[in-house]
Amino acid sequence: MKRVLVTGGAGFVGSHVVDELINHGYDVTVLDNLDEQVHDDEPDYLNDVAEYVWGDVRDRELLADLLESVDAVSHHASKVGVGQSMYEVEEYVDVNTLGTARMLDVIANEKIDLERFVIASSMSAYGEGEYYCGTCEERRFPPLRDVEQLEAGEWQLLCAECDGRLDAVPTTESNPLESDSIYAISKKSQEEMCLSVGRAYDIPVVALRYFNIYGSRQALDNPYTGVCAIFSSRIKNDRPPLLFEDGEQTRDFIHVSDIARVNRLALEKDAAAGRAVNVGTGEPTSITELAEELIRRYGKEDDLSPEVTEEFRSGDIRHCYGDASLAAECLDFEAEVSLEEGLEELVSWGVESDATDNTDAAYSEMEEKGLIRGLTRHRR
Ligand code: UD1
Repeated sequence: MKRVLVTGGAGFVGSHVVDELINHGYDVTVLDNLDEQVHDDEPDYLNDVAEYVWGDVRDRELLADLLESVDAVSHHASKVGVGQSMYEVEEYVDVNTLGTARMLDVIANEKIDLERFVIASSMSAYGEGEYYCGTCEERRFPPLRDVEQLEAGEWQLLCAECDGRLDAVPTTESNPLESDSIYAISKKSQEEMCLSVGRAYDIPVVALRYFNIYGSRQALDNPYTGVCAIFSSRIKNDRPPLLFEDGEQTRDFIHVSDIARVNRLALEKDAAAGRAVNVGTGEPTSITELAEELIRRYGKEDDLSPEVTEEFRSGDIRHCYGDASLAAECLDFEAEVSLEEGLEELVSWGVESDATDNTDAAYSEMEEKGLIRGLTRHRR
């Protein structure tokens, strides 16, 4: 395998994948539309050795042209805001689901011969993570918490049988996919379409179910992006990170350099072909702990502390962290970067980067649409 098409290769994750592949001797073609929500301009970190094509993943002719000349695809181009997807429904389905459908359509009809197709999926496809009820002594796969429960300030997942509180356990790939936001549904559809077309035309497809990715090149100005970038821009602008719920919800934070490496392994290891694989660290971290750690690393601990809002976002899950054993088994992959090392890398890049804090306007917009609600109205 020589040339890989990396869609979204100018973005946060894609650009790290491009560097990793070039460092390991691959030729890379990037397809990226420089989405203005993420980029003001061409980013300065673009790898000089890659070939860049500025265009849209929905452009059929362009796709046909590019796919003819590559041996493999690493597909990252995507809209990524969970909340935003609930009111930009058409746009999310168009870019994520239809963009991927079009690529698969070209592959099927133009008889494109690919040695590998890697699709960026997400743990969001699971909906809630996996839990255990200590009273019933049973595993549980609960649905999202309903609004009445959240309005009563009961943040924990409760057992449908005994009403007791559930404990989060590592989520395995066999967990049902109960996607419950348009973004999550689009990721699930991307994953399933790629695996299905791969089976039909003998193309080895690997779906990587990323947990929460963080690191340098996250779009700090984008208020619809992940929590590490949002908190970074709040802290840099001397404003407290806002914690939804009680701040004790957890996520599995994985550094982008580990994600770049797993993408290369997914192109190289045969055992993962035809499978969807979790890519996480297997370690949960609470959002409060994350906020405190970031404040400390930006050197603002004397001035700032996280603010619990008791607000909640529609579609948010409470806990989800990945069982990492399948990735170890079929991709020979284990996350290597600790949260301490990873946050150090994010912050040393973040202090040098511009960051306008756009969260107030974005959160007010989401509030207006009923996508952020609260026990008390939080003043912005
Ligand atoms: C994130 C990504 C999604 C990706 C998934 C798995 C975004 C917007 N979402 O979803 O694309 O597929 O991980 O990799 O990048 N929180 C606060 N205050 C804030 C912002 C968030 O308390 O200002 C909390 C949220 O309530 C949530 C947690 O932080 O509990 C994580 O939120 P977020 O970073 O948006 O990620 P996910 O929804 O997990």
